[in-house]
Amino acid sequence: MQNLHIVENPIVKRDLTYLRNKETKEYQFRLALKRIAYALAIEISKTFELKEIEVETPLEKTVGYKLKKQIVLVPVLRAGLSFVNSFIEMVPSAKVGHIGLARDEETLQPVEYYYKTPKELEISKTIVLDPMLATGGSASAAINFLKAKGASDLVFAGLIAAPEGVEKLWKDHPDVPVYIAALDRELNERGYILPGLGDAGDRTYGTL
Ligand code: PRP
Ligand code: URA
Repeated sequence: MQNLHIVENPIVKRDLTYLRNKETKEYQFRLALKRIAYALAIEISKTFELKEIEVETPLEKTVGYKLKKQIVLVPVLRAGLSFVNSFIEMVPSAKVGHIGLARDEETLQPVEYYYKTPKELEISKTIVLDPMLATGGSASAAINFLKAKGASDLVFAGLIAAPEGVEKLWKDHPDVPVYIAALDRELNERGYILPGLGDAGDRTYGTL
């Protein structure tokens, strides 16, 4: 898949190991997610377009830059929330929308329960945040919603993806680049990523 970017970084690989380890406690889990989100934010920020501006140093005028587009972060609740702060530290001017989706355990289809997004998605760069791309149903539904609201410059930032989820996003949204830290082997019969890390939301919030 042309649009798939796997972030290669030794710290990310080390942190991913903490996340996969079933013995990792919530606070260590959250810290590792936060560090990986920094790496994703740096990688994705390489695609941000700039506008030249003039800046005056104490000595003279010179060329400076500002981001061309408003950045909008859209975490998919709940697990996507763990990525938000790292991205905001990189882009403090970012606006944040929220999409509440929960996967039905039987059908594996996403069930919507909350939507709130900033205006002006048409002229923004919108980054969808969700650590897990399993069947791809939740990510695809979130992107469908954002496109219906006018977003056209979208990126997906995740942690672990299954090949099934990557394929679904490629089929439904070939225009959306996907940034992840690892592409895992497969889904099991319950729609969990193997080897994966289990349920990201439950492990982050201690609701197992
Ligand atoms: C998880 C995850 C994704 C979704 C991925 O959320 O954070 O949103 O599952 O699965 P999919 O690709 O098959 O749609 P979940 O529905 O468990 O909600 P939670 O974050 O509140 O635990
Ligand atoms: N959601 C998760 O949190 N983990 C999986 O493996 C699949 C969906």
